Amino acid sequence: MTSLSVFGAQWGDEGKGKVIDRLAADYDYIVRYQGGANAGHTVVVGDQTYALHLIPSGILHPGKHNVVAGGVALDPITFLAEVEGLRKRGIAVDHTNLHLSSNAHVIFEHHKRIDALAEVWKGAGRIGTTGRGIGPCYGDKAARIGLRVGDLLDPERCKTRLRAVLAEKNALIEKVHGEQPLDLDEQIQRYHELADRLRPFVCDTGALLRHAHLAGKRILFEGAQGLMLDIDHGTYPFVTSSNTGPGGIPSGTGFPPVWLSESLGIAKAYCTRVGEGPFPTEQDNELGELLRRVGHEFGTTTGRPRRAGWFDALAVRYALAVSGSTSWVMTKLDVLSGLDELQVGVAYRVGTERYEEYPAHLADLGQVEVEYRSFPGWKQDITGARSMGDLPPEARAYIQALGELVEVPVSLVSVGPERSAMLPCQS
Ligand code: GDP
Ligand code: IMO
Ligand code: MG
Repeated sequence: MTSLSVFGAQWGDEGKGKVIDRLAADYDYIVRYQGGANAGHTVVVGDQTYALHLIPSGILHPGKHNVVAGGVALDPITFLAEVEGLRKRGIAVDHTNLHLSSNAHVIFEHHKRIDALAEVWKGAGRIGTTGRGIGPCYGDKAARIGLRVGDLLDPERCKTRLRAVLAEKNALIEKVHGEQPLDLDEQIQRYHELADRLRPFVCDTGALLRHAHLAGKRILFEGAQGLMLDIDHGTYPFVTSSNTGPGGIPSGTGFPPVWLSESLGIAKAYCTRVGEGPFPTEQDNELGELLRRVGHEFGTTTGRPRRAGWFDALAVRYALAVSGSTSWVMTKLDVLSGLDELQVGVAYRVGTERYEEYPAHLADLGQVEVEYRSFPGWKQDITGARSMGDLPPEARAYIQALGELVEVPVSLVSVGPERSAMLPCQS
């Protein structure tokens, strides 16, 4: 196996950063291929916590190649701030270990502005975006009016194209939303300066990855968000604007799909979601509050409280199937310690219909009633467990049952935020 694709199998924040950091030791290249600074991937190493938004979670391992590929929506301000932030903390980051695609679409100030204004415009129908300009940037990409990193590096081209685009965006900002337009010259100057600082990292990352593969290098693809937020396969329209699943890899990197080998899903032992949209197993009650508090369920990017609820076996089985995962990592099992009883969503009911398979065709999942199966909880703290034998029998039974319910075995269980809090598992 020379490549491994890692996907979130819920609605994001499954612990992908932690898992990627842990796996990165065994890979040569770690690649972000979609999404942007809407992602917040937390890596804990000793007493240090790193929140990564655009830079792959392999950056903390010296000697690895970290690639921000063409499918990423790149906010140069966040990217450069992240580079500086890491350097200040003693992490070496330069063109030898960080590579940025010239094809990545650039998130400009107007994208962020319009993201926020569009949410206000939608009112009760808002998506609850992260406000990072993701939808407007990918929208411009599809409309063929976006600027790419390569365009930014050519001052004349950038000026001409930005002038044309901003004229329309300013009309939208001013005439539809009644807000102050952006100053064209100021924007051109600002992004021109940023371009010079991006330049050392920029290369043809597609060619880089293809050559690496042919040279026998090992490549780890780091998904952002989760399969249930995939623009095609998730809970549309309450999704993000990219293919978070496997389809995002070849298009987002130029790495041929026939070279992709295994996929690994990541899911929490319960479930969370940030922003609006259906969440069948949500516990908008004391239990949800407890999971949020014990699991520190507050957004890594926006600080918003995450909605929390029970594990949804239908959604995870669907996500693992779409991503082609042959095994998955169960994270945050430690958060469930102390509960008398655990519940798992095993079927949905809508009127007289009962679904045991995730009903991807249903336009509105908001109305489903969930049928739960109960499992006994355990009382002891399990954060020190390092092998399956260290876990109480109830925790082992829960892992086994979830593997069976989603029809894909659990290969690793995570019982704490730090690197070492992970145990191998043959369920
Ligand atoms: P990502 O977006 O999928 O990378 O996940 P986030 O970093 O946004 O959120 C996951 C949070 O859970 C982070 O604060 C992690 O440090 C933390 N975390 C990861 N795995 C575990 C675990 O097994 N147990 C606990 N208690 N926390 C974990
Ligand atoms: P990571 O990689 C959780 C959610 C937002 C919103 C929807 C659309 O850390 O798992 P967007 O800003 O993308 O247009 O927002 O998607 N969302 C995430 N939720 N984790 C993320 O990333 C997310 N990225 C976007 O909350 O509901
Ligand atoms: Mg996150």
